Amino acid sequence: MNPLKKKQYRLMGIGGATALLLVLLPVLFPMSGKPGPNGVAALGRFHILTLHFPIALVMLVPLLELLTRTRRLNNLKVAVYPLLVLATLSSIVASVLGFMLAQGDGFSGALVSDHMRAGIVTSILLIITLLLKELTRHNSGMAFQAAYIITLSFSVLSLISTSHHGASLVHGTDYLYEKLPPGLQPLFSAGNPAQQEITKESNVYDRLIQPIFRTHCYECHSKDKSKGGFRMDDFELLLSGGDGGMPGIEPGNLEDSEVHYRITLPPTKKAFMPPAGHQPLTEEQVALITWWIQSGASAEASVADLLQSYPSDPERGPTIRIPVQ
Ligand code: HEC
Repeated sequence: MNPLKKKQYRLMGIGGATALLLVLLPVLFPMSGKPGPNGVAALGRFHILTLHFPIALVMLVPLLELLTRTRRLNNLKVAVYPLLVLATLSSIVASVLGFMLAQGDGFSGALVSDHMRAGIVTSILLIITLLLKELTRHNSGMAFQAAYIITLSFSVLSLISTSHHGASLVHGTDYLYEKLPPGLQPLFSAGNPAQQEITKESNVYDRLIQPIFRTHCYECHSKDKSKGGFRMDDFELLLSGGDGGMPGIEPGNLEDSEVHYRITLPPTKKAFMPPAGHQPLTEEQVALITWWIQSGASAEASVADLLQSYPSDPERGPTIRIPVQ
């Protein structure tokens, strides 16, 4: 075997093994939603730092490929391959650290798994792109060249999708477009549930209850910070409560629901939530949460289901305005 082939086979072996490892990690260690060892979380948190390297480096590869076609920058051609190596390595490192972050800090949920899957796909696409680049360096065949351009393009698209999912995790799903002029927003938010109209089929918890918690409580009670040992971003944890030992929410039972107790205290009390200095919930929001807990605090119930238990007597408390025609 000539030495060149040997190098290519070695690269294929290493690339294949790494890709397999990346696919196996989330299969062997599925997300439990429970925090893992501190050491894993400590290392995993470097994901936030390292993830910016593959973003910049991967984007540079097609840019350099284009620029080096000009006579002036032709001599930079030699930089493409090492750049692609760095881009691929940094993507693998960011993927592994991201996986550790999810394990260590006990992340769960669809957005996290989508982001993780997209990150792994990006890394594997980059490994394939690198192997193809290696082949094109020693083969002038058009097939390798075409395959290289295609996988490079898909790597970039996959990277953009991964980054967007990641940013949505940190900043919220409507961060990118919420400040755009209202006329432009529908262009971006078609797939964004927060922007879709609430109908009788809408899920009450997802569309009416969780948004209140997200805006007023997640800051201190979610995966990043769980004050009082209480997380509200996960339905099970929301129900089970925090260090105080009372259930966060006891379906159908207002007295035993610590969340209800805290949001209905006089705002001057120390235990009132959200704490002093934070905007209290409106009467209507409290009424909505109260009604939802009373009628069973279901994660599945639709607006139509719950409307059956809606107090038709206006004397029974503040009107709950449900944005359904
Ligand atoms: C600025 C931070 C902050 C915000 C925002 C906040 N909390 Fe808290 N929360 C705390 C702290 C600190 C504690 C622990 C001290 C205590 O129990 O009062 C706590 C404790 C709790 C507990 C008791 C958990 C237990 O089992 O001991 C509940 C329930 C709670 N918060 C509900 C809420 C709700 C509902 C919201 C939103 C409406 C909210 N919190 C918003 C800081 C916050």
